Amino acid sequence: MKIFITQRIPEIGIKMLQDKGFEIDINPEDRILTKDELLTALKAKPYDAVLCLLTNPINSEVFDACPTAKIFANYAVGYNNIDVAEATKRGITVTNTPGALTDAVAEHAVALIMSLTRRIVESDKFLREGKYKGWLPLGFLGLDLKGKTVGIMGGGRIGYRVAEILRKGFQMNVAYYDIKKTDVFESELQATFYDNAEELLKVSDIVSVHVPLLDSTKHLINEERLKMMKPGAYLINTSRGPVVDEIALVSALKNNVIAGAGLDVFENEPALAPGLAELSNVVITPHTASATVPARDGMAVLAAQNIIDMMEGKTPVNKVVA
Ligand code: GLV
Ligand code: GLV
Repeated sequence: MKIFITQRIPEIGIKMLQDKGFEIDINPEDRILTKDELLTALKAKPYDAVLCLLTNPINSEVFDACPTAKIFANYAVGYNNIDVAEATKRGITVTNTPGALTDAVAEHAVALIMSLTRRIVESDKFLREGKYKGWLPLGFLGLDLKGKTVGIMGGGRIGYRVAEILRKGFQMNVAYYDIKKTDVFESELQATFYDNAEELLKVSDIVSVHVPLLDSTKHLINEERLKMMKPGAYLINTSRGPVVDEIALVSALKNNVIAGAGLDVFENEPALAPGLAELSNVVITPHTASATVPARDGMAVLAAQNIIDMMEGKTPVNKVVA
């Protein structure tokens, strides 16, 4: 069996595939392959499986370049980079890596919340610039979380874990919005369910986004909805960039429509919307929410296991459907 890996992932996953005796080719560059480079690489051999990243758009052109591949195993929980409907039509299996990164991403969302509400990045910069001349009775006042309301958009694993940390650790009130109710939010976190985004935005002091990127969630947070948020509220996005209209967000932040934003993902990654990086009420990280050793190792294990299952004629546990 021949496997192509589009960029180096943790050794533990590569070793699992090697131990099965598969022939493995890995993109030798320490960077994302361009579309043409990926197509050329896939045409080189009749690969049986491809382990791909969220940075690789996988569509008809890619499937045509690699007609022997039976599986595209995405090294990510989000799989909006893959045309799953087209894969299904062609009998190609697509898998993702749910669960492995839940804690890491949730903890990162909380880190962004804390950074914003306690103005950590701004204060750090102030100190490093030599501006600290003595204790400030009115300097860097932030927001305390206890008793405030966090609005979770998307009640999946990650959304739940963020809510759990903030409820059980910080005694925040939890509100959540999803297309369906998940009883554990009510029973474990005394949460309030909202079946529409607008009502959730109106009651939340912190809004944390955890929905997958779909046609229906693109620009879920837009100009109109930003205006529905409390003027003192913070927006956190660790899901996918296009869920938030980034131009509208920059404008809302400039005009104090909301208090601030913590972003790990961007609409046109790696580019940032004009003006975003100049704002002091924003904390930004380079899509590193899942960047812990256990999370990345766990993702590598799941992606490799999905390929092994497929090669052994089983249905991979993390098979996704359009
Ligand atoms: C990371 O962004 C993922 O979807 O796993
Ligand atoms: C992550 O694994 C999620 O489904 O939220």
